[in-house]
Amino acid sequence: MKILGIESSCDETAIAVIDDTKKIYCDAVFSQINLHQLYGGVVPEIAARSHLEIIHDFTKTSLERHDIDLNQLDAIAVTSGPGLIGGLMVGVNFAQTLAHLLNIPCYGINHLEGHALCVRLSHDIAFPYLVLLASGGHCQILAVRNVGDYVLYGQTLDDSAGETFDKIAHLLGLAYPGGPEIEKIAQYADTVIELPLPLTNQQNCNFSFSGLKSAIRRKILAEKSDAESMTKGVLSQQKIANFAFSLQQNIADIFSNRLTHALARFNEEFNITNPIIALVGGVASNKVIRQKLSDFCKSEQARLVCPPQNLCTDNAAMIAWAGIERITANNASTDLTLYPRNPL
Ligand code: KG4
Ligand code: ZN
Repeated sequence: MKILGIESSCDETAIAVIDDTKKIYCDAVFSQINLHQLYGGVVPEIAARSHLEIIHDFTKTSLERHDIDLNQLDAIAVTSGPGLIGGLMVGVNFAQTLAHLLNIPCYGINHLEGHALCVRLSHDIAFPYLVLLASGGHCQILAVRNVGDYVLYGQTLDDSAGETFDKIAHLLGLAYPGGPEIEKIAQYADTVIELPLPLTNQQNCNFSFSGLKSAIRRKILAEKSDAESMTKGVLSQQKIANFAFSLQQNIADIFSNRLTHALARFNEEFNITNPIIALVGGVASNKVIRQKLSDFCKSEQARLVCPPQNLCTDNAAMIAWAGIERITANNASTDLTLYPRNPL
């Protein structure tokens, strides 16, 4: 079974073709980053227009480049939510029209389910497992019991970890998206700045990043107004590196703390030796966070699994794969109603 995946929920237009043996024939992403960079974040109207402008030609050229004939496709899977309504509308309309012309079914896929199941595309792992999904739009811990059977253990009460990276990077004068920029400059740090660890005194799996953001903001503004910075008008590269490093460590520590509670609950429910924790979403590309969580998992007799970087950030292979998982489990839905905010 060969399936075309289409993803357009945020600032990437992505298409992929995979089959049920996990063979990836094509995995193409057109990133709009340069369109949004000027604004330090994604502008929904610009995103929607860009999806509309390129989705047809991008799909056509990507399939041609990989010698894939549309008639080889058995189904289409498209993100129907959550995400930015304009982008979702473009992707779903395109997918629906193409499926109609090819006379094949078109399935609506939850973007978060794509992230949560993607680890089974990259790795051979069985249900159940824990997922920490940390992206620009979401931060949550889920128990994945089976296809379509997810239990939300905790989630952010305000902002996401990815957004925190992006906003702090902006304050530090780094480019958008902030996560990769923070990771690059953090390696030059020489001092750790103490930062708060929100909610870590609570026995649950929730997150909160808004207080952390404000605390760093205050520290950055205090640094900017000191004598040295005032003459130069900006923070020194050393200070930027120190803030970047400290934020990265801090977020890794918050993740470990929240996962301690998640593991306790998961172990109580399933009692599995060596349970798996999958770290997914854009923030999962961060190598320092991966390493710290891998060390954490070892100390807890658990195993950390991360998809390769191209499957951590938004992509269409994960949407196609979620389609295959749903079809195989006999519960794929052809309901293509758009759900900009639907949880898993
Ligand atoms: O999953 P994703 O591509 O899109 C959403 O669904 O939101 O995640 C994008 C987020 C951005 O906030 C970006 O700054 C963050 O992932 N990110 C990173 C890294 N690479 C991307 N955060 C930390 N370190 C990275 N290396
Ligand atoms: Zn995502």
